[in-house]
Amino acid sequence: MSRYPLTLSPVRVGPHMLKNRIITGPSTMHCLSYGQPYPTEAAMRYFESRARAGAGLVTVAGVSVGPATDDGIHTCWDLFKPNCTNALAELAERIHFYGTKAAMELLAKFPDGYAVSDGALRMNGEPGREIPTDVMEQVKDWFAADAAILRSLGYDAVMLEFGHSLPVAQFLSPLTNRRTDRYGGSTENRCRYINEIVRAIRGESRLGHAHRRADLGFRIRGRGDRPRRGAAHSGVHPG
Ligand SMILES: Cc1cc2nc3c(=O)[nH]c(=O)nc-3n(C[C@H](O)[C@H](O)[C@H](O)COP(=O)(O)O)c2cc1C
Repeated sequence: MSRYPLTLSPVRVGPHMLKNRIITGPSTMHCLSYGQPYPTEAAMRYFESRARAGAGLVTVAGVSVGPATDDGIHTCWDLFKPNCTNALAELAERIHFYGTKAAMELLAKFPDGYAVSDGALRMNGEPGREIPTDVMEQVKDWFAADAAILRSLGYDAVMLEFGHSLPVAQFLSPLTNRRTDRYGGSTENRCRYINEIVRAIRGESRLGHAHRRADLGFRIRGRGDRPRRGAAHSGVHPG
């Protein structure tokens, strides 16, 4: 640890004081939640153990915004169903017990076979068709509503999953984003949807002004303009 002398020292991140700089990444919980719409005891213990081990911030899940649907892979917790929200609030509380902050990751699966552009790969590996702007608005509203409810359930932060070439991340890359409207083309245009989502979350947030600065984190790819070996990770067809 001597190479990283600050690792165990506290740090302020916006409104939050983390007791150290150890932040655990999210992991999808389908297998430990057995497809249930709430964190099971096994799932709770998994994330709680990271707090007990001493992390400064534990990132839970990711959960898909919008209606909770079970795709057999991802966590499908329902952020709005009363009995499910009790369990989600309990999970945040169990993390807080150790003086650890709790974040939840949010990601988007586009509905109805949509992707950023025609031919870009969907999360099931099938080519999608270009998502129209009214559906993009709907997904944006889902992000805002989900982020707001997470705050009310006791989560300190939301991590937005805009990496791994997931549907929203595909807006960023010229490999997948072939749109000719204001969401495609220049870098500014390709970032537009993500900026709009962030503004929608900030606007919807029930937090006071002081909390608006740093309750969001992001995952993005470092090199979204280069296909990776294993093209599915780039969201484009091989060859
Ligand atoms: C089983 C498993 C599930 C994961 N689920 C997610 C996820 O839902 N969202 C996400 O952003 N990353 C997910 N990841 C990636 C991890 O957050 C992390 O970035 C990755 O495991 C690399 O970190 P490591 O070398 O410490 O394992 C998952 C990784 C594993 C192994």
